Amino acid sequence: MERIISPSILAADFGILGEQIASVRKGGAAWLHIDVMDGEFVPNLSLGLPVIKSIRPRSDIFFDVHLMINEPIRYIRDFAMAGADGITFHVEAASNPQSTIDEIRRCGKMAGISLKPGTPVDEIMPYLDQVDMVLVMTVEPGFGAQTFMRDMLDKVRRLRRISDEEGRNLFIEVDGGINRNTIREAIEAGTNVFVAGSAVFNGDIEKNVAELVSIAGENNG
Ligand code: DX5
Ligand code: ZN
Repeated sequence: MERIISPSILAADFGILGEQIASVRKGGAAWLHIDVMDGEFVPNLSLGLPVIKSIRPRSDIFFDVHLMINEPIRYIRDFAMAGADGITFHVEAASNPQSTIDEIRRCGKMAGISLKPGTPVDEIMPYLDQVDMVLVMTVEPGFGAQTFMRDMLDKVRRLRRISDEEGRNLFIEVDGGINRNTIREAIEAGTNVFVAGSAVFNGDIEKNVAELVSIAGENNG
């Protein structure tokens, strides 16, 4: 299965965001991870619709939008219109995950469901056959540059096993603490989409992305 690097612009310099996205693209990333926070579901604020709208015309890269907001169903259409290609929401934040998935589908976007470190995989089981992707958080959502929680890879292993048994190609994404070392552990567990913020945007962006892309491409059969 194709392995995808999705650099998280949370760690970018927003003063030169357009240039930094161009570097991400030059490094070979297929996706761009966009973290949206509401200060309620997580104790931080990040960016929202106007930023997504402004960067959309500058790049054809896949916009992997990670909503860390309460009752995301209220804004799915807006994010779809702003230019999201994939929309991922948190199971803990939605009073009706099924309707939220239906709304993402109605907008014609790729649907993802995410779970915080403390949330067991069982919580998303009822929706697994409805989504294209599961985002397994490997840090507490809200902030970049935290330490990778490797116990979360048990969730990835279980999800990959289910996906294989059912003969589907579920996208399994990890987010938080991914760098050139931890990505190998995540690959081993069966992850195929890797979010990386600080490991990409600290230093030479193009080179950092190229290195992660190259590791992700190793032994990929
Ligand atoms: C955390 C965000 C992540 C974050 C990852 O809530 O969802 O996408 O930017 O940052 P790093 O890669 O620095 O852990
Ligand atoms: Zn994220």
